[in-house]
Formats: sequence, structure tokens, C-alpha cells
Amino acid sequence: MAAIKTAIPSRRFDAVIVGAGGSGMRASLQLAEAGLNVAVLSKVFPTRSHTVAAQGGIGASLGNMSEDDWYWHMFDTVKGGDYLGDQDAIEFMCREAPKVVYELEHFGMPFDRNPDGTIYQRPFGGHTANFGEKPVQRACAAADRTGHALLHTLYQRNVRARTHFFVEWMALDLVRNAEGDVVGVVALEMETGDVMILEAKTTIFATGGAGRIFAASTNAFINTGDGMGMAARAGLPLQDMEFWQFHPTGVSGAGVLITEGVRGEGGILINSNGERFMERYAPTLKDLAPRDFVSRSMDQEIKEGRGCGPNKDHVLLDLRHIGADTIKKRLPSILEIGHKFANVDATKEPIPVVPTIHYQMGGIPTNIHGQVVTPDVVNGGQKVVNGLYAIGECACVSVHGANRLGTNSLLDLVVFGRAAGNHVVASNLKQQANKPLPKDAADFAMDRLNRLETSTGSEKVQDVANDIRATMQKYCGVFRTDALLTQGVKEIMVLDERRKHVAFKDKSKVFNTARVEALELDNLIETAKATIVSAQARKESRGAHAHSDYEQRDDANWMKHTLFYSEGNRLEYKAVNQKPLTVETFKPKARTF
Ligand code: FUM
Repeated sequence: MAAIKTAIPSRRFDAVIVGAGGSGMRASLQLAEAGLNVAVLSKVFPTRSHTVAAQGGIGASLGNMSEDDWYWHMFDTVKGGDYLGDQDAIEFMCREAPKVVYELEHFGMPFDRNPDGTIYQRPFGGHTANFGEKPVQRACAAADRTGHALLHTLYQRNVRARTHFFVEWMALDLVRNAEGDVVGVVALEMETGDVMILEAKTTIFATGGAGRIFAASTNAFINTGDGMGMAARAGLPLQDMEFWQFHPTGVSGAGVLITEGVRGEGGILINSNGERFMERYAPTLKDLAPRDFVSRSMDQEIKEGRGCGPNKDHVLLDLRHIGADTIKKRLPSILEIGHKFANVDATKEPIPVVPTIHYQMGGIPTNIHGQVVTPDVVNGGQKVVNGLYAIGECACVSVHGANRLGTNSLLDLVVFGRAAGNHVVASNLKQQANKPLPKDAADFAMDRLNRLETSTGSEKVQDVANDIRATMQKYCGVFRTDALLTQGVKEIMVLDERRKHVAFKDKSKVFNTARVEALELDNLIETAKATIVSAQARKESRGAHAHSDYEQRDDANWMKHTLFYSEGNRLEYKAVNQKPLTVETFKPKARTF
């Protein structure tokens, strides 16, 4: 691997997209079809991106099963997010939803079908008709492999559109010029260790989430917060990082996702008494209340001694009554996951489940076109970072507020991937020249690489990474307290110091995969710091941030977005946009289900 500072080769593109999941490939498709020269970088083969693991569905008010309305979808999203979401962005997403789903259908995505040929839709958590009156079937499903179907469809369309993929390439850092404009990224080819500057008129981050900052996660190993790390190192803020969603049903001890679609198809959660306990917590929506609500209820059952198994540390997801035929047709992967990860036949035995980290609601702040924005200290409001977009889980637009509704993640990927693509196409990139690269374009990234090659420290990458995960799991879980968070911040800061002293034991025998893990560590720590510092400061309970010392939502003081800056671990706040684009504001109310 070349880790000395030499002239770094560069290639020029109209647009570079970092990440080949659902949002990255939806954006690249838009760009490639418009004739732009677009490169997509991915640490893994595109169809192995984490979108492939999404199971239950993509939300859209098609109304195929019963009456539905985008405005009801908007209401559920605002309320599900505990009123922290920006209502302009939420209106945009819910209105666009049917259009983007039909577009996917026309791209050839193999959705399940109703007898009349329309797309099959199943119930999902927090999806209601008529503003919370009763559950509605809004999740458009391809069995329990909706993400797989979506990702493969987008990949094939991109191949047809001649998108240029850089497979097994890792972006290291952004390149910004003296004006602060983004002019490309420095990236590493994982096989050879070669470093290259990819110059771009527009750079789009679609790097996904950072679930790997926690010990028990439904996320893929690649989800190390690379976009957030690069943004933080470039001086950009990270928004609302304290809000992390625990999915109620991860396989106990394994973390593997069991889709909410199981409960959508009729599955129920039971405690050690065999009681369907969600009837007590959420009388209307029961097992299909939003995820923060169900996760807290499960945790409460376990805390009060009604957990199952020898250690009473999980509850059971019972789907036996659904029947083997429906399970095999609608939930084939769940049957397989039950066998492989819980050693149960789900047609005959319930699956042991616990709330498991699943999704980050926060990320790099953007507007509804996907442009990255920062506070404008001179004129007020916010200003665009020229040349940089962020979409999907690494972005915070913010449509999920303090807690995302199931199926709104795939929707977010496609709606904002497409919107960013359209916005870039409309900016006439072909007529513009690439801005000159600064002389020191690659220095920052090369210094990170060189530090690894020359470090004489005694820390091992895996030790520090595992300690970050254990610390986040212990101090930043389903229920938080002042004491836990304060101790957690201290320990994460110690880990930030330890991270600077990682070294390879035998420098003559280092695999590039080990180098990649060391580089990912810098991203894990930025994301972990942003999460726990932001969480420690927020003195209320809202959505997924459940604070036992401040049990109520506090709209008077905390109806605001957090902005974390890595330099000095500084926090700022900005207003929530409660004004939708065309309709009435949904005013904050108590959240009952
Ligand atoms: O439960 C699930 O299938 C996950 C869906 C989602 O996170 O949107």
C-alpha cells in the first residue's frame, strides 16, 4: 500500500456518489439517464449494500387494500416522529410516495400481488387511516425481502444506464477548496491499496447508517458511519444524532432482524405468562404501535420480571396462529432466520426477540433537494454547502423526527435519492467545468493513512472498536439517565484518545482489510461522540430518546434540532420546521396509540 505523500492520481466526473444502496443507486440512475458522467463508489458489491436487508415493505398510500390518503401517511409520520420532523419534508415525502412506488413497479420490481393484480400492502407499526382511527395496510411488500427486490431492480437499471461503479472502494475524506466548496473525495481501492482523488462537480453521500457503533445491531458490518465521519472531519455538523431506533424484534442473542411485517401479518408479542402485553400499553394499535413505544414496553416487561428464557431477558414473537401456508408465502426469510439464528421452527414455536439497534434518525443536515446545509451565521437561516448532497440514512432532512415509522426508510431512500438526482440534473452540470483542486487536496486523507503506517501506539483496532460498541450499548440504550449518559460521554472521550494510538502489530504483514477497519474506526468514533454528547444534553423524553430523569416531552424547551460539531464537541440548536408546504400544520399532541 502506498502510504507516503506522493502525487495522487485523479479522475474527473460530473458527479461522484459514495454508497450504492437504495438512495445512491436511485440518484445515480437519474444522473446516468440524463447523460452525466457519474461514478458510484461502494465498499461492497452494490447488491450487498445494507438496503438488501430491508424486509417488510416500502410505505405509500396506494389504497390497494382499503381507503388511504397521503395526508394520513403524513399525520402518522409526524406523530410517529414525536413532532420533531420537519413538516415540509414530510409532506414532500408522503405526497411523492405513490409516484416512486409505481416507478419502481415499472422498473420491474417484483412486488407481491393481490388477486386483482395490484401491489400487495400489509399493515405496519403506526400506519393508520383517518388520523389514528384504525390500522391501515400501507406497506408495499415483496414477501419479506423488499429491500433485496428494490436493490436488485435499481442495480439492473443502473447497469443499463451505464453507471460507472467503483466496487470495493472506500471514500476516505472530502476535498474542499478555500471557499469551502466540495470538489470531490479521496478514496482507497481496497484490493490494491491505491489512493485516488475523484474530482466531482457534485459529490453525493449515500453512505447509510452507523449501527455498528452499538454491540447489538441489525446493521451490516459495513455500517460504520463513513459519511458522518467524513462530514464531521470536514467541519460540518451532524443533526439529531441522539435519536436511535431500537427495532422491537431482533433475534435475542443474534441481533438479526425479524420484520415488523410478522406483526403486520398477525404475529403477537407475549411475555412469560403467555400474555399479549401490548394490549395494555397501546389499546388501539397493540403490537403495531410505533417502534419506540413497543421497544419500551418490551423492556418494561423484562424489567418487571416477565421476560422469557432461563435469564428472563427476552420476550416471544408468536406467529404460529398465522399458519404455515401464509408464513411460507409472505414470510419465507423469517422462517429461515428462525431456523438459523434461533433454532426454532416458527410455524410451531415462537421466536425469542429483544429490542435491537436498527436505525439512526439523525445525520448530515440537508434540505428537501438533498443539498447539505449549515446555519448561516451572517444572514440567519441556513446556507447550502456548494457541491455536496447527502441522501438516505446518512442524511437528516428530517422526515423521521425522533422516531421513524417502519417502511419510511426505503421510501426516504427512493424519494430523496430521486429528488437529489433531479436537482443535480437541473443544475446543468454539463455546462460547468470542474473547480480546480486545491494543492493539498489529498493531504488530510494521506495523513490519516500515514499515521496508521507509522504509529508506534499499543492499541489494537478491534479492541477500541469493541469498547466503543460496549460503551454505547451500556450507556446509550433504550432507557437513558443523566448518570448513565454523563459516564458514557467520559468513556467515549477516553476511547477517542485511545483511537489515536492504534497501530498494526507487525507492519510487514498488514492486510488492506485491516487498514479499512482502522480507517472505519475514525468514523465510528465521530458518530459515537455525536450520539452520546447530543443525548447527554437533551433533557426530555421524545421518540426514541427515553430519558428516565425527564420522562415527559418538553416542547417549550426542546422542540428543536441538535447540531453536533466535532471540533470541541460543540452543540448548537436550530428550529424545527413545523410549516408544511401546502397543508395545515399538525400541532404537537400527547402520543397515545
Ligand atoms: O421490520 C422491518 O421490516 C423493517 C422495516 C423498516 O425498518 O422500515
